[in-house]
Amino acid sequence: MARRKKIYEGKAKILYEGPEPGTLVQYFKDDATAFNAEKKDVIEGKGVLNNRLSEYFMTGLNSIGVPTHFLKRLNMREQLIRSVEIIPLEVIVRNYAAGTLAKRLGLEEGAALPRPIVEFCLKDDNLGDPLVAEEHIIAFGWASQQDLDDMLALALRVNDFMSGVMFGVGIRLADFKIEIGRVFEGDFQRLIIADEISPDSCRLWDIETGEKLDKDVFRRDLGSLTDAYAEVARRLGIIPVPNQQYTKPTLIN
Ligand code: TYD
Repeated sequence: MARRKKIYEGKAKILYEGPEPGTLVQYFKDDATAFNAEKKDVIEGKGVLNNRLSEYFMTGLNSIGVPTHFLKRLNMREQLIRSVEIIPLEVIVRNYAAGTLAKRLGLEEGAALPRPIVEFCLKDDNLGDPLVAEEHIIAFGWASQQDLDDMLALALRVNDFMSGVMFGVGIRLADFKIEIGRVFEGDFQRLIIADEISPDSCRLWDIETGEKLDKDVFRRDLGSLTDAYAEVARRLGIIPVPNQQYTKPTLIN
């Protein structure tokens, strides 16, 4: 088979040319990075889990009318996606204090926020993805005011969907990051969710125990990352529960 053309290789994924114009193939690697790639490792199986988890969330979003780049899963590690022009911003939504917000404002990790907070960081690894204000975004032309309004609305819809899905399986969505891209349809442009939605870019805490089920397990050496991601996938019914044995129901007279 002819080798596909690689379009871009990032920290956790590779993009290849797609079978039709306007499409790409997104390949999920096993590489894990944290702290702006200062910490690196290969976590066997992570890519397979994130491919399935991102498929699950993006399909759900598509079906409630939140547009995403996801078209279909191709195999264990690859999915067909729409090609977009990525807006160079990381859009972060927070429901509970954690990570850089907790540090920056001196908040206790886990404190409930008075309302969801949306932040924007510039996608620039050399600068360490700095937090930017709407003023910077407009002034430097990274996005227009209309784009910003649309991004905010999309981010809050994703937050409601993801919070609800997670709550249904006993998990608290503390925060997450999404990326948004432009697609052009005739003379119009539309914004859609791109990249991935997976435990690599979310903070997920077990509601009962507070156990971390996301990339903080890797950042803080808290145990097996794939065990944590597999637990999320199992609760969502994406992968089977191991050793689930059929128990014969007891007959009641
Ligand atoms: P944040 O607390 O700002 O940073 P860190 O993860 O370094 O503590 O991150 C908030 C959420 O957004 C968290 O779930 C991780 C995610 N995120 C990414 O996935 N990639 C990024 O580049 C950034 C800045 C955040």
